[in-house]
Amino acid sequence: MSVPLFTPIDMGGDVVLPNRIVVSPMCQYSAPEGSASDWHLAHYAQLAASGAGLLVVEATAVSAEGRITAGCLGLYNDANEAALKRVVDWCRAYMPTTKLGIQIGHAGRKASAQRPWHGGGPLTARDVPDLPWTTVSASAIAFDSMGGGVGFQGGAPAQAPAAKWHVPVALDVHGLERVKAEFVATAQRAVRLGFDVIELHGAHGYFLHQFLSPLTNRREDDYGGTKQKRRRYPLEVFAAVRAVVPRERSLGIRLSATDWVDGAMTVDDTVETARQLKALGCDFIDVSSGGTIPTAKITVGPGYHVPFSARVRKEAGIRTWAVGIITEPEQANDIVARGDADCTAHARSFMVDPRWGWNAARALGVETPPLPTPYHRAGSILPFKPQAAMAKAAE
Ligand SMILES: Cc1cc2nc3c(=O)[nH]c(=O)nc-3n(C[C@H](O)[C@H](O)[C@H](O)COP(=O)(O)O)c2cc1C
Repeated sequence: MSVPLFTPIDMGGDVVLPNRIVVSPMCQYSAPEGSASDWHLAHYAQLAASGAGLLVVEATAVSAEGRITAGCLGLYNDANEAALKRVVDWCRAYMPTTKLGIQIGHAGRKASAQRPWHGGGPLTARDVPDLPWTTVSASAIAFDSMGGGVGFQGGAPAQAPAAKWHVPVALDVHGLERVKAEFVATAQRAVRLGFDVIELHGAHGYFLHQFLSPLTNRREDDYGGTKQKRRRYPLEVFAAVRAVVPRERSLGIRLSATDWVDGAMTVDDTVETARQLKALGCDFIDVSSGGTIPTAKITVGPGYHVPFSARVRKEAGIRTWAVGIITEPEQANDIVARGDADCTAHARSFMVDPRWGWNAARALGVETPPLPTPYHRAGSILPFKPQAAMAKAAE
């Protein structure tokens, strides 16, 4: 009996994932000066040995200014690259069958924020040693200008009354060229590190999304006004990155399918954006939603992005990942079986159970994805045959 969740998938270029399970990017806010720390080594090591076909490294900033918090991972200098190489090298050495991805992005007006465990609001002069920095965006509109004011993830407000978010500098064309060049340079570093999959962060109200949404883009030049003009900058950035990411690697983007605000970005708009990205060589769309303004009313529930993913996949004819409260193996398998997504991405489930992929295989009655060699004896209580796996690896 075929179990769709555990069938391989061509993810574009020469990249074939061994199964459809993706560990979704998860910021760890634990990177001094943007560089991966011991925490990252432990965190990604356990997630590489999880049974997922693809592990995507958290939102990784293209510049210091583009980090959400002062603890966010970056890939904008040689020290960042060397620190991340240590993590990649571990994964390659011990879990060579798990494909590796990275999400690269810029937080725009949502940068210069406190870590979530400090409240998640905008940094203030009291947040020593993480002092605030100047933020940039499509237009000079603060995140909470339409009300709200809680943390950037929409989480619990800080204990002190929420500070007003920073008013970003609206970038002129020179500024736009600079940030585009930063995306390109970071993508080149990611290619050099050997990531199989690169995902641009175009969702959750961060920099690229700030161009797409009419709530955040009030520009009157060629990068704002109509829907097509609002798409222009993200499409230009995508094309510039595609030009330096070899065709053998897979390159996609995470999009917020909807802003969840009347009159703002809709799933129809996202289908059209996906079509245009596909024409530029985009291999997949990772379908999420929201994040544009803190007061949006989001209907959250199990698999709540799946219908959006299904529409983008069908109407734009592009591979998609569905994400958001996909917690059960049968639920994930059904999504893939129905053709609503090519892959399912999971974040919190993997923090709760870093062996989610192994357990999903057991629940669905298929052979467990490869275990690291020192764990082969666990095969005696799993549907896993160490001898067969070693013979296969030796082929
Ligand atoms: C701790 C944490 C960190 C996250 N960091 C990122 C991130 O770096 N980039 C991103 O696009 N989404 C991020 N997300 C959102 C997840 O990737 C995912 O889309 C969301 O949690 C819904 O999936 P889930 O229900 O499986 O957790 C984060 C979520 C959590 C819980």
